[in-house]
Amino acid sequence: MKLSNFGKKFTGDSGIVELMDDLSSALSENPDMIFMGGGNPGRLPAVEAVFQQRLEAILADPARRHSLFGVYQSPQGDRDFRRQIADFLNREFGWGLSAQNIAVSNGSQSAFFILYNMFAGVMPDGTRRSIHLPLAPEYIGYGDIGLSDNFFTATRPSIELLGDHLFKYHVDFSHLASAEDIGALCVSRPTNPTGNVLTDEEMAHLDAIARSRDIPLIIDGAYGLPFPGILFTQARPQWNDNTILTLSLSKLGLPGVRTGIVIARQDIIRAFTNANTVVSLACGNLGPALATALFDSGEILTLSRDHIAPYYRERSQHAVQCFRDQLGDLPYHIHKPEGAIFLWLWFEGLPITSQALYQRLKRRGVLVVPGQNFFVGIDGDWPHRHECLRVSYAQDPDTIRRGVTIIAEEVRAAYSG
Ligand SMILES: Cc1ncc(COP(=O)(O)O)c(C=O)c1O
Repeated sequence: MKLSNFGKKFTGDSGIVELMDDLSSALSENPDMIFMGGGNPGRLPAVEAVFQQRLEAILADPARRHSLFGVYQSPQGDRDFRRQIADFLNREFGWGLSAQNIAVSNGSQSAFFILYNMFAGVMPDGTRRSIHLPLAPEYIGYGDIGLSDNFFTATRPSIELLGDHLFKYHVDFSHLASAEDIGALCVSRPTNPTGNVLTDEEMAHLDAIARSRDIPLIIDGAYGLPFPGILFTQARPQWNDNTILTLSLSKLGLPGVRTGIVIARQDIIRAFTNANTVVSLACGNLGPALATALFDSGEILTLSRDHIAPYYRERSQHAVQCFRDQLGDLPYHIHKPEGAIFLWLWFEGLPITSQALYQRLKRRGVLVVPGQNFFVGIDGDWPHRHECLRVSYAQDPDTIRRGVTIIAEEVRAAYSG
């Protein structure tokens, strides 16, 4: 097979391909595998019941059933759905949006492919721009999305040790200031993999930097504000006409419907929609059909507040306790869990790489994600990048406890050589 540069880049190995492969193949290799790897959300019966009722109501109505299965929506997404989202965001936050500020995508992952390549890569004058990540480690799924090489740059974070085996990354603004040739800044908030939530002050500072450089600030709210609201700390949702906010229905419990939502200035949305038409023609109808009424009723917020956030808050506390119980006085650190569905573990001075640890754990029937591929855009040799693991706590507490026990055994074995 003779492949183009595009073909070579996009058909090869990458962190996200390995992660998704693991997710699908591990179970067939070992049906008892403990899944603490991918980003699947937990199962919340109360939330599932809401979606089940909606689906049944749609299927019982021939006209709605037809519009679910039998029509292409406009490439920007169903107009009523977009209007309802805009009205909801205006009611809650006064952002002054219309349906023209909203576009739907087939999952937010595909929205990032378009948005990032819109703003970075080779520019018309031949110069190059990068997507800059002010705080890496960042989402593994960004890593291979660029059409050209050296697509991402990132600022190495500062590390605050909080005591009691907890730590927190902060944006190192002194180093961010020297980053050049940037097409956009991007942060996930809460951050996958670390569970970090950038503070309102950090967000205001990033907004000011983006404006002063005349580039957009892209905020990936896949776990965040205003929904699914998986945050365990106070934070304000942020949007203005220099912000591109991406949201997703996935972590509400609907990763299978592949619905992402982009909120931006109208010219950006028009450009995005044109590109999305070329790539996808139109977006899936199921996600908007299931979620649309939740915006009018405000249920999207109550589901998040009453069910989704408490579920993950409890799971995160339980997972931290399990690690404390099992790891004892080993030189481990856990990133302060402020949101999302993962713990980020840092094993300082680990004698083996996190990749080797991941392999050993897989052989023991525990699937986690090794940390190195999350250091998107970070150059240079930094031992830290080989000392971290991402562990999902979306599963039931008993599974987590069993998984943590095995992780702790392997980590202890690695430290004692
Ligand atoms: C931070 C972050 N952004 C974006 C995505 C993509 O989500 P989706 O394409 O399902 O909307 C994920 C998926 O796990 C994620 O963790």
